[in-house]
Amino acid sequence: WFGHVEPAAKDPILGVTEAFLADPSPDKVNVGVGAYRDDNGKPVVLECVREAERRIAGHLNMEYLPMGGSINMIAESLKLAYGEDSEFIKDKKIAAVQALSGTGACRLFADFQKRFLPDSQIYIPIPTWSNHHNIWRDACVPQRTFRYYHPETRGLDFASLMDDIKNAPNGSFFLLHACAHNPTGVDPSEEQWREISHQFKVKNHFPFFDMAYQGFASGDPEKDAKAIRIFLEDGHLIGCAQSYAKNMGLYGQRVGCLSILCEDELQAVAVKSQLQQIARPMYSNPPVHGALIVSTILGDPELKSLWLREVKGMADRIIGMRKALRDNLEKLGSPLSWEHVTNQIGMFCYSGMTPEQVDRLTNEFHIYMTRNGRISMAGVTTGNVGYLANAIHEVTKS
Ligand code: LMR
Repeated sequence: WFGHVEPAAKDPILGVTEAFLADPSPDKVNVGVGAYRDDNGKPVVLECVREAERRIAGHLNMEYLPMGGSINMIAESLKLAYGEDSEFIKDKKIAAVQALSGTGACRLFADFQKRFLPDSQIYIPIPTWSNHHNIWRDACVPQRTFRYYHPETRGLDFASLMDDIKNAPNGSFFLLHACAHNPTGVDPSEEQWREISHQFKVKNHFPFFDMAYQGFASGDPEKDAKAIRIFLEDGHLIGCAQSYAKNMGLYGQRVGCLSILCEDELQAVAVKSQLQQIARPMYSNPPVHGALIVSTILGDPELKSLWLREVKGMADRIIGMRKALRDNLEKLGSPLSWEHVTNQIGMFCYSGMTPEQVDRLTNEFHIYMTRNGRISMAGVTTGNVGYLANAIHEVTKS
């Protein structure tokens, strides 16, 4: 029956974790997957999450959630993305369902897109999170790309990005990273977002925001929603994928939210019912525990402010490690510029290292990262930054 099945290619991100785990070296360092670690390199459970779990424990039952997920979690998620006092929330114009983290939210949207706009395509930035390509591929939505990153400046290629937006057929779907672009750590400025939004209006494009890192760009989730708020001000309808993997550290809980801003309440009801129809044959209804954690934290002013402090703490530790990595490389006398390490934001540094240099880091120094040169700064610590800098210097100096 299955003799013809060949082993699948390793995932470019999660495959790195597998290789890291299999390496017995005591020196090994994992800066592959985007998962936050404390300064001892240990996974972190936020205090607000621990407290929410204590509160939940007494009265948790294990009943099914509705197909669309937790009403409270969705309501709190919409406030985070669209704003506490959003008129769109009041007017019930947003169709929203709980999703299996950001991946699940993107996939539900992609399936929805295929089902109701079967001739549409999706424009995806180059580069992007590798799984975006898998998601829209498996939903059978044809992919186009738009330029985003400038390898020489290690910054945004704004002119090309605008050209590609202008040259796409009117009414195209675009995937945008709301903040802390993965893998580059390069975001448009507020002014550039305004220009992008304006051009989207001219072209009647549909923006779909993947907001997997809300809070990690600026340290403040409210500020990190700026791009979305600009598009809302400009009168766009939008889609949005939210994830609590990173900003609440709920990686394995798989909790997120997909929302689609519609013309009116009637349309939102219809769209939500269809999203539920897509979810039902895949997983029936989403898991309850993570959703309860999120709604408990965001629904309680005290826990929410604890959460905000903890997000800021994670973002600040990463900023500190960017500085430390750059300082170390400069002290070693690296002939290259490492300014981009501190200019880029969010969880990742797009180092500019080649796949061959990354292979050397892995083979000679037991440093694990994706072959596109992305360093997960969340895995860098006071203890390993010197070792990492030295190894990077060794493989890049000639
Ligand atoms: C990453 O980019 O490392 C994370 O989003 C984890 C993942 O699922 O790829």
